[in-house]
Amino acid sequence: MSEEIRGVCGDAGVLFYCLVGNVALELVAMTEEFDIKKVARQHLEMDRFFAGDFTIKSEKGRIEEQNLRAEAGEAVSQMERIAGEVSACRRCPLGNLRTNAVSGEGNAQARIAFVGEAPGADEDAQGRPFVGRAGKLLDKIIAAMGLKREEVFIGNILKCRPPDNRDPRPEEIVKCLPYLQEQLEIIKPEIIVALGAHAARTLLDTNKSIGQLRGRLHDYYPDAMAKPIKLMATYHPAYLLRNYSDASRRAVWEDMQQVLTELGLPIPEHGRK
Ligand code: URA
Repeated sequence: MSEEIRGVCGDAGVLFYCLVGNVALELVAMTEEFDIKKVARQHLEMDRFFAGDFTIKSEKGRIEEQNLRAEAGEAVSQMERIAGEVSACRRCPLGNLRTNAVSGEGNAQARIAFVGEAPGADEDAQGRPFVGRAGKLLDKIIAAMGLKREEVFIGNILKCRPPDNRDPRPEEIVKCLPYLQEQLEIIKPEIIVALGAHAARTLLDTNKSIGQLRGRLHDYYPDAMAKPIKLMATYHPAYLLRNYSDASRRAVWEDMQQVLTELGLPIPEHGRK
């Protein structure tokens, strides 16, 4: 050990490392109170800990982010594929009567999926779900929940308009439902809001009335093996337009509050009463 280094690092005692230029030298510490080897080790461990931990975390975060982006892109392209199939569909005679098929729209990874009955005249004309009077009311309900239309998914049991807005027929539902089922499989919503009796009965496979079904959460089973998805049944916006009473409006708002609570979302102040 050179005199110079001894001067800087001290006399005999404890081994420690000292950097001179770029060279690590094994040295001997001068006193036991000043345990430089311990200090050096702690520094090294601290460096490794922070550098290692942060490096691993940021790498993991980056990979997770990439995976999430890839999943989102995959969901969008799967939904586009289904929309393409729906627009060419002739599984039932409604396919020959439509102006436009209405596949559904919104976030391909939405937390909430609103499901109505079938397109009406406005939807058939535009190829988009819930754009007529009932749709404007649905927009207001979504806004009252503190959400944006583009954040949720909006679709229907039938993708084509039944003539004169008649009720969907069982054979039409059987042919068309697989499209919605596949969409829900891709979206994996945390909750489905079934708008009206047709949507609720179809998805829950029951004959009960909407009055019996609304107001509490049900389980929707995508298939026998899959985990159920929560489903809230509520009155259809078109029913609300026809029966615009305090009671019907309050009932729908109570249902939507349950949906928000189930998702852990705040209930907007303006909607509280
Ligand atoms: N009613 C529905 O059930 N769906 C629509 O898209 C529009 C009106």
